Amino acid sequence: MASSALLILLLYATSIGTTVSVKDMEYYTRERVEKSIESFEKSLEIVKIIVEGKDTSDWTSVLKKVLKFTARYGPAFGGFAGAAVNFALAFVGQDDPVLIEVKTQFAEVNRKLDSITLQINSLKTEVQWVTYASVYSQDELKISNSWDMFKEFLSDSMAAKDEDKKRQLVEKFTQFYENTATENSVTNFYKYLTGEQPSLTENLLELMVNKFSGEVEKVKTYSMYFRGLMWKGLQLNLIYYKLKDFNTEAKAQQSIIQFYNVTQAHTQTVLKCIENFEQYMKNDVEVIGTSESLEMTPLATKVREFLNKKYFWYDWIVAVYKKEDDSSHDMVRFTKFPLEKVIVAVSFSEKGNHLIGNTIKEYASDCVKKIECSKPEVLNKLPECSYKYSRYGPSTYKLAMTQIAAIHISTKKDGFSETPDALIRNDCYWGFFSVYVKSDNQIRQLDPCSGNTDCGNGQCKRILDTSLTICECNEGFYGEKCEINIQDDVMTVNVNVGEDAEASQVAGGKDG
Ligand SMILES: *[C@@H]1O[C@H](CO)[C@@H](O)[C@H](O)[C@H]1NC(C)=O
Repeated sequence: MASSALLILLLYATSIGTTVSVKDMEYYTRERVEKSIESFEKSLEIVKIIVEGKDTSDWTSVLKKVLKFTARYGPAFGGFAGAAVNFALAFVGQDDPVLIEVKTQFAEVNRKLDSITLQINSLKTEVQWVTYASVYSQDELKISNSWDMFKEFLSDSMAAKDEDKKRQLVEKFTQFYENTATENSVTNFYKYLTGEQPSLTENLLELMVNKFSGEVEKVKTYSMYFRGLMWKGLQLNLIYYKLKDFNTEAKAQQSIIQFYNVTQAHTQTVLKCIENFEQYMKNDVEVIGTSESLEMTPLATKVREFLNKKYFWYDWIVAVYKKEDDSSHDMVRFTKFPLEKVIVAVSFSEKGNHLIGNTIKEYASDCVKKIECSKPEVLNKLPECSYKYSRYGPSTYKLAMTQIAAIHISTKKDGFSETPDALIRNDCYWGFFSVYVKSDNQIRQLDPCSGNTDCGNGQCKRILDTSLTICECNEGFYGEKCEINIQDDVMTVNVNVGEDAEASQVAGGKDG
């Protein structure tokens, strides 16, 4: 034993959990605590990222935020447990500025985690969650209780006057952890989220998507909560291992991968939820249409407002007409929902500006006016109408079907409601037709992935038929451009900030 640091570590390993020697405690000096602070702060940053809410009204940022996981959660993730234990066992006064800063940050992070819990509680009532997830909620409760226990341990330990007291606190915490079998609950919870389903009939994430009928915002809130809980659980394990002096580094490496796996499962769930929106949308329209006996215009408005809010990446077009008039309406690129008395037809296009559409309207309207209000006429003649586009000098374009979001052709002038107003509309004496032109982004970016999209270790993926893309990373990579290899995080994990890493370096140097 050439290195005194290593010797202290070994003493620490054999003593904690039963009795902690004075030397062990002395190891946690103020200097080491100060070294831990950076790692602690980084770890708390992760939680802030996990629970960060929506703070923008721009739909692309909202969706990107939902799908983005760029935090370097690896090394920082592993650092938290070591750092937290350093703080808990350090011999520094209660009013030490370093400790005060740590306490403030830790409290702030817990506030954020709690605020998510509050949001979840109201959602739980909404979907009678307990009925569906009673199995999982037992594990949830154990993790939450143990986290509260850890918070108490941390603050009591920082305030403790002597090492005996600290030692008692360590024992109290580790015993609580063992008696409640929280480690087992963490394992269960990981399985619920990543697909192995020991006792639930469905994966927890899928269960949630179904309960919320594919509502991305709610699914996101729940996912943040689950990831927050998973973070707490994995950190608690590491803290427990550390206090018992098990091989914390290997456990930390495993935890990083587990957290990564949970994050991947979360991303896939949200993506699936977005991509399967039509399935949920159909249900939504039917529910609104059958639960309310509204006149055509309020019904069209209500459906549109609902869809615009829930499927916020699209501008929704809604037409309602009497069921007996069905043969008088030709709906091109609409989905029709026959209800009791009326038919609701919906269509959509990506949100955004309509400068191109307005140009088309301006220059092609004379041509459009000559088209008669029948489906063959409209479909044949509309693409023959041309317009001038003068951004880089005048050019003439044909109105292409790919620029059109939806067309409504009717041989009746009344008994219907349509919202919003069409961009191009032509009235014939026996009817009318409305043409909805796609947004500028959608027209310009027919294949947004063909451009300069560098996804490193992954593939560019277009979100539905919008101009929004994300990088879908290969297994083991993450980041906005899939630039981070999870193995790098695993390699650089340093759970024992200012302690083991340094100690083993010193030991290695002297021994070798
Ligand atoms: C993470 O997921 C991968 C792929 O699904 C799996 O092979 C691996 O065992 C998981 N890792 C852990 C630590 O559970």
